[in-house]
Amino acid sequence: MIRKWPGHMTAVLIATAKRRTAKVIRRGYSLGSNLIDWTNGGGKLSHGSVEVRENVVSEQEERSLLQEVDLALKRRRIEANHWDSIITNYKEIERQDRSWGLENVKTIQRLRYELENILEWGELRWNPVHVIELAEDGEINRHVDSVKFSGSTVAGVSLISASVMRLSRTFENGKEYYVDMFLPPRSLYILKNEARYDWHHEILRGVCWNGETVKAARRVSLIFRDDLLKESKFMD
Ligand code: OGA
Ligand code: MN
Repeated sequence: MIRKWPGHMTAVLIATAKRRTAKVIRRGYSLGSNLIDWTNGGGKLSHGSVEVRENVVSEQEERSLLQEVDLALKRRRIEANHWDSIITNYKEIERQDRSWGLENVKTIQRLRYELENILEWGELRWNPVHVIELAEDGEINRHVDSVKFSGSTVAGVSLISASVMRLSRTFENGKEYYVDMFLPPRSLYILKNEARYDWHHEILRGVCWNGETVKAARRVSLIFRDDLLKESKFMD
C-alpha cells in the first residue's frame, strides 16, 4: 500500500489510467438499457439523468478492491443504523486516494476519468471514495444525498452481489412514480441532475427482476461524488 506518492507519480498514474480508458471505451460497454425499468416512471424522469453500465471493473479489479476494503473494514463493527435509519446494518469508510493501494487507485482514477468522459462536464474535482458494505440484512432506505457535501453527480460501483435500486418521486397530486435499476456486481450506476436532486433513491431487498428474485446478500459499493464546488477545480 502506498501512503505517500510524489507528484510525478500521480501524473504517471493518471496518464496510464487515461490510456487504459481509451482502450476500454473503444471496446465499448453495454449501455445496459435493459437494466432500467421505466414502466412506473410516468415519463417523469429524463432518461439522460440515469445510467447503468455493466462490467466497468474486471473480476481481478473487483478482487483487489475487495481485498483492501475487507481489510480496512475488518476492524469496524457493523453499525445498526445511521442518518435516522436510512442505512442499517452496514459498515462504511471514506478512503483518500493516498491510502489506496497502487492497483486500486489506478482503478479508481480510471473510473473517475470514464465518468468525466460520460458526463462531459470536463475534469471534475472528486471527493474521496465512500465505501459502504451492506450486510445481508442491511438496507439503504429512500433518501436524497445531502446537497451540503457533494455536487451534481452520484455514481456507484456495486461489488459482490446484485441489487435493485429504486428512484422515486412523489408529485404535487400525491402520486408517486418510480424507476428501478438492476445493478449487477461490477456495474456502475450514475445519478445526475434531477435523478440526483429531485428523486429519492434506495436499495430494494428481495424483489424480483425479470421474474427472478434478487436475493439480498452482502454487498459492497464504492460511491463517487464530485466536489460541491465545481469552481474549485480552477483554484489550486
Ligand atoms: C448512499 C447510497 C447507494 C449504494 O451512500 O448515499 O445511496 O449503492 N448508496 O450503496
Ligand atoms: Mn445515497
